[in-house]
Amino acid sequence: MKSTRPKALVTRKIPEAGLALLRDKCDLDIYPEDRVIPRKLLLEKIPRVEGLLCLLSESIDEELLSRAENLKVVSNYAVGYDNIDVTAATRRGIVVTNTPGVLTEATADLTWALLLAAARRLGEGDRIMRQQKFEGWGPLYLLGQDITGKTLGILGAGRIGRAVVERSVGWKMNVLYFDNKLNSELELKYSAKKVNLDFLVSNADFISIHLPASRETHHLINERILKQMKKSAVLINTARGSLVDEKALVKALNEKWIAAAGLDVFENEPSVTEGLSRLENVVLAPHIGSATIQARDDMAKIAAANLRAVLEGKQPAYPVNPEVFS
Ligand code: GLV
Ligand code: GLV
Repeated sequence: MKSTRPKALVTRKIPEAGLALLRDKCDLDIYPEDRVIPRKLLLEKIPRVEGLLCLLSESIDEELLSRAENLKVVSNYAVGYDNIDVTAATRRGIVVTNTPGVLTEATADLTWALLLAAARRLGEGDRIMRQQKFEGWGPLYLLGQDITGKTLGILGAGRIGRAVVERSVGWKMNVLYFDNKLNSELELKYSAKKVNLDFLVSNADFISIHLPASRETHHLINERILKQMKKSAVLINTARGSLVDEKALVKALNEKWIAAAGLDVFENEPSVTEGLSRLENVVLAPHIGSATIQARDDMAKIAAANLRAVLEGKQPAYPVNPEVFS
């Protein structure tokens, strides 16, 4: 008997907590291999499905959407959705959803892990130990940056930016933020000051990026901005690689315009710009901001619930383009 349940494609295995919400409701096609689904296969499968649960590693663009004759919903397994042409989806009445909130704390934690590691040269230290090059304690050996009482500059005062600021209280930091909107909670609770980008980058000791990727934020951190930073500044990026001109950053780290950087995201993931991985003063992480068991389970549940809601004709909890319903 032919199934009357809606067809949904899941582009890679996600935690079972999410898949379990879909098994009885959809005719599920899960790409079985633990790698990015080949583009060709995705293009082949898309015309048949009503629901797509995809990852940030897949480009949901005009070419793909133009073949998606039956598609009602693109449920992105991520908070960021720069991998999706939302305008093209909206034009076709396709709902796009994301998974905000549940990865905020995990991502803020990783931001601090990178900040601490970059400030205290932990990556270098780890490499020295592994290569058995440690020759003993020294008064001037592997000196890093203090954090207590320094100025934290946040680019983007959304959920993750706020959670990063919340964690700075123990370090008694002054907080500056750059955002279109005033964040009264940050101002009242953490005495944070809203400033322009130039002021922030020239005055902050630690600069952390929490803005979404868009045309407006592309290469927000470029050569001109890097040159304005303090020589002791530490730059952290757990948002999206495209916000930083990676070539300019390599130059800045190499020529010591700034002290260090900590990166979890890259301009051309999974590749890394030539020269970056040879630098000692950068800590590199393989896009693991949300990679905790709890966060990934919760993301799976939300992504599945979003997909399911649309396929049942209901409004999902986290639409990115709610105008589709109006
Ligand atoms: C991860 O990068 C996300 O956007 O969820
Ligand atoms: C970003 O979208 C966030 O959750 O702060």
